Amino acid sequence: MHLSKEQERILSGEKGQAIQKCMEILVGLGDIYDADSLIPIKSAHISGISIRTSGEAGLNFIEKMENMGAEVSVPSTINPAGLDLQNWKELGVPEKISKKQIRMVEAYKKIGARPICSCVPYLTSNRPSYGDHLAWSESSAIVFANSVLGAKTNREGAPSALASAITGLTPYYGYHKDENRWGTLEIEPDIDLFSKDDTFSYSVLGYWIGREFPESVPIVKNLKPTMEQHKALGAGMAASGAVALYHIPKVTAEAEKNPEICKADETVEFGSDEHEDVVSSLDQTSEYDLVCIGCPHASVNELKTVMEKAGGKETWVCLPREFKRRINSQLDENNLKLVCDTCMVVAPLSEMGYESIGVNSTKAAHYAPSLAGVKVHLASVEELVK
Ligand code: F3S
Repeated sequence: MHLSKEQERILSGEKGQAIQKCMEILVGLGDIYDADSLIPIKSAHISGISIRTSGEAGLNFIEKMENMGAEVSVPSTINPAGLDLQNWKELGVPEKISKKQIRMVEAYKKIGARPICSCVPYLTSNRPSYGDHLAWSESSAIVFANSVLGAKTNREGAPSALASAITGLTPYYGYHKDENRWGTLEIEPDIDLFSKDDTFSYSVLGYWIGREFPESVPIVKNLKPTMEQHKALGAGMAASGAVALYHIPKVTAEAEKNPEICKADETVEFGSDEHEDVVSSLDQTSEYDLVCIGCPHASVNELKTVMEKAGGKETWVCLPREFKRRINSQLDENNLKLVCDTCMVVAPLSEMGYESIGVNSTKAAHYAPSLAGVKVHLASVEELVK
């Protein structure tokens, strides 16, 4: 890989140990993927913040970076942590988990990352523009940034996103290159399955696409999703597969500018059999102790929908803290809790005494059994909260 003189100096350790380590990570990655250079990025989004998923090793790594003087050089945000940083006691999170988690978030703050602790950075202070190169590591945010906003990022892991946050650079390969962003397969969904104001079928469709065509750039036809439905569709495909980008003719950012990228030789249909198959493969129980909405983190509109439909069942709506402030924290009542900084997958639900949860997100249904240690019931919001 070609490096500039300045990049060579960083790699040799002239600019300090922390940034040298980051440069080593990026050069190693670039070599694996045959990148010929490093390019500047506009922002980074870093995952692996939950102490439950990244463990002691993750905490030691970021504290070591902080001690070596690491500092982000581009706007950088962080993913959900393992607990609500302000309300963890009230929610029943064990103290031994909270101490390490708070240390972890503090270390990220000290290196200059914005502690939004949310997987929807694009709805908060980190919203990319069309054509921006990014280094993001949260699969649902990556697919939204690439598809809906027309920004350009690969599916980074937590270490490479952190390395990019500090250097401001990423290897030039994959979805940074226009030639890798063309649609590869057309999907024809049965539009009768898609209600105007619900995200559930979008989440199911996304999961089916990722499961059946994990390396594709799907072209989804006949749909015009809302922002929330885009969020659900992309998160589903990025959870079951390695999908990082989709197009919808005349709707998504690049498809609007260049309709030519929405042509492929193969077309597959998605109907009620496929819908049913996904739901039955993820649904484990009809009983559930807690309803969890907000995977990816909920928008204000999604919160309002839950409030309208809620019937008194214990419910968490996971959302960015900024939205909770905007709304009014008194909504923490009637068994409806606004949970910030974390989510139903990375919070220690089993240690908090929950055995099963109801979710409307295929991504949450995919990960919660193994990561949060609970069984899941998968259904629409309406069915879950009534
Ligand atoms: Fe976000 Fe947690 Fe889902 S990080 S995408 S709410 S698994």
